[in-house]
Amino acid sequence: MKSIIFTLLALASTALTTPILTSEEAKLSSRQLESQADVLDTLLSVIQTHTANINATTQAAPENPDLAQQNAAAAALAPDLNAITAALTSATTQFAKRSFVEARTGGGGGGPPKSCPSDCLLIKVKIIVLELIYTIKFIIIKLGLACVLHLLTPLLLALVGLVKALDKVVLGLLIVVKGLVTAVLGTLAGGLLALIIW
Ligand SMILES: *[C@@H]1O[C@H](CO)[C@@H](O)[C@H](O)[C@H]1NC(C)=O
Repeated sequence: MKSIIFTLLALASTALTTPILTSEEAKLSSRQLESQADVLDTLLSVIQTHTANINATTQAAPENPDLAQQNAAAAALAPDLNAITAALTSATTQFAKRSFVEARTGGGGGGPPKSCPSDCLLIKVKIIVLELIYTIKFIIIKLGLACVLHLLTPLLLALVGLVKALDKVVLGLLIVVKGLVTAVLGTLAGGLLALIIW
């Protein structure tokens, strides 16, 4: 009899401590949220679509463009640069949702999944960062910084936001990314980098 009561009590307390998901969270977890690695893979392919356009647009701009030509090229680059900023922000939001659901369901605690551990996530982020900063370097060398500053500032801030969201999962990521960005863009875009709070 005692043991039955204990069992019932144990069951009752499990029921009480098991988090009750809101329908939105249940939908998220039942949809099997993409892993961080999947989000990064999707992000890279979206970014590459846009950097390919950006490279073509930048390539097509005249050498030593005058002010009007710089501004025309910047206007042509705007949709792709803004799309990258939006994709970075959206990926960051997905990471935030993911750790929330995991915290409520007790699954994994937001750490890196076994299929793509910390080192693997680090490599994916590095590839994304390098793709972006070499493309940005190409733009700045060809067109100068002034005409694209208003487009590159939100993009870099969104990139840093993404890296900060993942820095909890991949320890030291922010320092690695800061090193890469500074090495590639430091002398070209000092004014832009000065706006970033790492
Ligand atoms: C765009 O150009 C940059 C600089 O040359 C390069 O690093 C990047 O991989 C290029 N991206 C694509 C998609 O061609």
